[in-house]
Amino acid sequence: MSGELEVVRVSGIKWLRDLHQLERIIFGKNAYGLSTLASLLESSNAMTVAAEIDGSLIGYATGTIDNGLGHVVSVGVLEEYRGRGIGRKLMMSLENLLCLHFKPRAFVLEVDVANGSAIRFYEGLNYRIVDKIADYYGKGIHAYLMSKEATCL
Ligand SMILES: CC(C)(COP(=O)(O)OP(=O)(O)OC[C@H]1O[C@@H](n2cnc3c(N)ncnc32)[C@H](O)[C@@H]1OP(=O)(O)O)[C@@H](O)C(=O)NCCC(=O)NCCS
Repeated sequence: MSGELEVVRVSGIKWLRDLHQLERIIFGKNAYGLSTLASLLESSNAMTVAAEIDGSLIGYATGTIDNGLGHVVSVGVLEEYRGRGIGRKLMMSLENLLCLHFKPRAFVLEVDVANGSAIRFYEGLNYRIVDKIADYYGKGIHAYLMSKEATCL
């Protein structure tokens, strides 16, 4: 990897265009729309972190606090930068920020049951499958609910 990796907190509407572009490259037709991303960037109940190399956005993670639970809403890294520990760094940074600001009792997330690589990624971060949610992403597209205890200092 050439260039230096930086993981930074991002907030506010000025990040919307770049984040939306990244989201569309990573998630294609399943990408969050502008309005969802805008509310995540502007909400006082949400935290977003971005990975940059030489000032270029190459990954991001975002999450919210919801009834005392830290909810990981999305994490993604550009394909050519995967497998280098960047997703893990983003998740750890997001969890730390959610801890710092909200002291959640646990972290939760939903993942497509067919997304085996993401499930293994989350398991490597100590998330465990706790439930299956039928039709979460649309008819016939089910999700696992994964969770782990938050050990905020
Ligand atoms: C899931 C995703 C964010 C992982 O990012 P990444 O930067 O490649 O992950 P890392 O390199 O930090 O990997 C961390 C750990 O996850 C595991 N992992 C990551 N990708 C994996 C894969 N394809 N298969 C198996 N394990 C995998 C590895 O075990 C790795 O552990 P290690 O440190 O012992 O090697 C990335 O693959 C991605 O953006 N996928 C598309 C979007 C997506 O599916 N997001 C999640 C659903 S919202």
